Amino acid sequence: MNNSIIKGIGYHVPSQVVTNDDLSKIMDTSDEWIQTRSGIKERRWVKEDEAASHLAIEASKKAMMMANVSPEDIDLVVVGTISSDYFFPGVSAQLQAELGLDKIAAFDLKAACSGFVYSLSVADQFLKTGMYKTALVVGAEAQTKFINKSTEGRDIAVLFGDGAGAVILEPGDSHSGVLSTHLHCDGKDLKYLWMEGPGSSGACQINIDNIQQNPSQYEPHMHGKKVFQNAVVRFPEVIQEALDANDLSIDDVALVIPHQANLRIIQAVAKRMNVPVDKFYANLQRYGNTTAASIPIALCEAYNEGKISKGDIIILAAFGAGFTWASAAIKW
Ligand code: ACO
Repeated sequence: MNNSIIKGIGYHVPSQVVTNDDLSKIMDTSDEWIQTRSGIKERRWVKEDEAASHLAIEASKKAMMMANVSPEDIDLVVVGTISSDYFFPGVSAQLQAELGLDKIAAFDLKAACSGFVYSLSVADQFLKTGMYKTALVVGAEAQTKFINKSTEGRDIAVLFGDGAGAVILEPGDSHSGVLSTHLHCDGKDLKYLWMEGPGSSGACQINIDNIQQNPSQYEPHMHGKKVFQNAVVRFPEVIQEALDANDLSIDDVALVIPHQANLRIIQAVAKRMNVPVDKFYANLQRYGNTTAASIPIALCEAYNEGKISKGDIIILAAFGAGFTWASAAIKW
């Protein structure tokens, strides 16, 4: 069976740069605390009149241009996002309309920080069966619209940023492209990283009583230490799974592109795997954690910096709310 190949990539981030010092003016935090705990120096925030779809459209146009595909070529859109413009429908419907695509299959996929690798895997399966020929796969987030930008929400607020990344997938040959994907979820600890409302559970339906009595349920919450403990176990597991499935060792891999959650997580994973940390790409210093957008943005920047060449093996590795975790092995 032929693999899918990545024909084009693109990313877009909002123009508004928010430094750690900017944050320390609106909440009780400091550049020193944020950099020591996370490695993040600055992030991008959407402005009031911007949303996830605006970032997704720009990233998609760039990926389409690089792949040299026109709107009528695309027959599948999958968008990984947990911060769509509307509760429903998804960003994918907006992309279909705004990019002038034919009335094709388009849907959002809600797997939090693993959303891009999940979306890539789903699109890859459709291409492998021959059901679709050209897929636009996007990770897009305007997560900072939901965070509490005060001292009360500082544990989350300092970590997240907004952005989007996109790839165009097409059928390729049997020895390059997406070699394998592995997806996992364990929902027993879902409350360690979640946003309760708005939802269909009685306590978090949108009504004036709920909003007045417990406004914080409409913001994300995280048990930082539990997230850290799970991430440093799941990342190595799912990277190893990708290596084993392809009979590879980590030495065969040119670059691992992990979800950009936190530099300390990346360093801990490299140490556990006994791999030099520079095998792991990191740009979270400039963008923070952009949830489902972090891996495609990092993929684009690594490519633009000349860190990925034809024939290289790269591994995408994700961990996020759910908990979900996932990997993709790609021969460029
Ligand atoms: N600025 C200053 N102080 C803060 C901030 C902040 N932004 N946030 C929390 N604090 C305070 C806390 O209130 C606490 O104060 P206290 O001791 O008086 O109670 C103190 O700092 C220490 O808080 P901890 O939560 O114990 O801090 P910790 O050292 O564990 O670091 C962190 C927190 C960075 C979140 C860490 O747990 C971590 O790295 N977790 C991984 C989580 C992560 O990266 N999530 C990303 C999103 S999830 C994902 O993408 C997979």
